[in-house]
Amino acid sequence: MTTPAFRWTMIAHRDRALLGPVGDRVCDEVLEAAAQAPANVLDIGCGKGEWLVRALIAAPGARGVGIDPNPAFVADAARRADAAGVADRLTLVTSAFEPALVADQAFALAICTGASHAFGTYEQALHGLRTLVREGGTAIVGTGFWQRTPDPEYLATFGGSADEMTSLDETAALAESAGWNVVARHVSTREEWDDYEHGYAARVREWVAAHPEDPDAPRFARRIESWSGAYERWGHETMGYVTFVLVRA
Ligand SMILES: C[S@@+](CC[C@H](N)C(=O)[O-])C[C@H]1O[C@@H](n2cnc3c(N)ncnc32)[C@H](O)[C@@H]1O
Repeated sequence: MTTPAFRWTMIAHRDRALLGPVGDRVCDEVLEAAAQAPANVLDIGCGKGEWLVRALIAAPGARGVGIDPNPAFVADAARRADAAGVADRLTLVTSAFEPALVADQAFALAICTGASHAFGTYEQALHGLRTLVREGGTAIVGTGFWQRTPDPEYLATFGGSADEMTSLDETAALAESAGWNVVARHVSTREEWDDYEHGYAARVREWVAAHPEDPDAPRFARRIESWSGAYERWGHETMGYVTFVLVRA
């Protein structure tokens, strides 16, 4: 049984492993740029564990910790780890992130993609991650940025505000001021965005069509049309997503 708060995201991401506008090949390339066989890896807001499992496959012998409050995503991550043969090297914690969960541990690689809210803001994530990574260690941080000033009508469709993100250059500068060197970055392409957004919308529409009697169906139908319409009209040229490889300065 899915927790009501997680129902929407479970439906929208039903058969998707990477829960953001990032392709499989890019995920592997970013991991390769991040670290040569890190000894240990932490993933905060690990979702279905795809980044983490790929990191452990690439680093035989490394141990991993994944933290996410969504029990269904964590169960999926456990199945994924099992299938990949890395389950014995992975600890999964079903919880919102709290520093106490990894107290006294220093990680060679920390991942936080699309999950800065686990720390509060993107800037807080940058500072928080720095305390979790050992000297000279690496972080992979995925975050949104504004490609251009957002139209107020666009922001109104999802209750967003212009100050919640900055331009790409400012987003990178914030990482540098938080004590990181930006050593690589991937800006998600239009193809990656379309693949993510079109799949997201299609899965919600399919679910609504298959469950017309469900009490959530009318609300989910309105929500996906508003979301998808906003992406097509404004989103694809307004919101960007960047995945940084950061090394602790
Ligand atoms: C957009 S998804 C990204 C998942 C994964 N990092 C990826 O890139 O595939 C954001 C994830 O953050 C998780 N999350 C939300 N609040 C959190 C918190 N307070 N602490 C840790 N994770 C959180 C969600 O459950 C969700 O799995």
